[in-house]
Amino acid sequence: MPIQIVRNDITKMKVDAIVNAANRTLLGGGGVDGCIHRAAGPELLAECRTLGGCDTGCAKLTRAYRLPCKYVIHTVGPVWRGGGRGERELLSSCYRACLELALAHQCETVAFPLISSGVYGYPKDKALQVAMEAVGTFLLDHEMTVYLVIFDRASYQISTKLFSDLAAYIDQNYVDQHTDSFLEQLRYSQVREKAARAPMAAPMPQTEIGLEQALSRLDEGFSQTLLQKIDESGMTDAQCYKKANIDRKLFSKIRSNPAYRPSKPTALAFAVALELSLEETDELLRRAGLALSHANKFDIIVEYFISRGSYDIFTINEALFAFDQPLLGG
Ligand code: AR6
Repeated sequence: MPIQIVRNDITKMKVDAIVNAANRTLLGGGGVDGCIHRAAGPELLAECRTLGGCDTGCAKLTRAYRLPCKYVIHTVGPVWRGGGRGERELLSSCYRACLELALAHQCETVAFPLISSGVYGYPKDKALQVAMEAVGTFLLDHEMTVYLVIFDRASYQISTKLFSDLAAYIDQNYVDQHTDSFLEQLRYSQVREKAARAPMAAPMPQTEIGLEQALSRLDEGFSQTLLQKIDESGMTDAQCYKKANIDRKLFSKIRSNPAYRPSKPTALAFAVALELSLEETDELLRRAGLALSHANKFDIIVEYFISRGSYDIFTINEALFAFDQPLLGG
């Protein structure tokens, strides 16, 4: 998955480079900066002293010393002053500058903290949006895996409006485990899943046909249907898998194997990238032997966005993360 949101301490990330939310002196401080310097050891500060500081929105690279990564990329985020002082552009520039540096040093995996969202006061939901957008745009032209590392639940928020709308939607649709209708609905969703897993044969004629003949009438599988839908959409393959937050290797696997069975997060990621309606999404899932179910929060959250024609995979993933669900992508 090209962009992943993970909950972790960034100093524990085994990636090519981690990013430090530093200040203009690059001589250490509190927050994530303090954690990184403590974990890397005093050699990091010694190298930082040779760098001559760093401007806001720019980035500089050092070795990582005792950290389990190869490099630390130090960037300086803007201090939040209400949003009217170019904060968004500066923050976006931090992500771009770090990614350019990572690319120049052949990094394939990079982990970011939510820059500026601590001591510098950038509202966390806005900071996360800028991060997703800046990284997403960069990844349209480059192959890399980028982790957005959220330190603790308190440092992570999607907008309260989206959160409460989603919570209400889940409440209305989630199969209530304490009523009789739960069993009914569960049975219903099991029947749907079972039907979806059955081979998709054309309707049986009245006269009996042999198994071989029936199998020859199998519908197209997931892979073939997906490729056809991409053609119809006018997107290139690369545009589609990038929009789906799927990496190139996984896409080639799907492409070259007509019998490929994707996971639900992968199949739904393509449905979102292709901006399919709910019915079309159901149809695509069926080709993979899958179905949407109301006994599953993940499915309900994705359904919420698709039914509203809201197809931004990064917003959907932020919401999935907020509800502790797996993310869309491969
Ligand atoms: N791993 C991942 N994320 C972390 C960690 C960690 N170990 N520790 C904190 N965070 P901040 P800023 C999160 O304040 O706002 C320093 O003093 C934290 O929850 O570290 O850019 C510098 O020297 C928050 O969401 O950075 C500067 O003076 C995010 O990292 C100033 O703070 C960023 O919080 C920079 O402020």
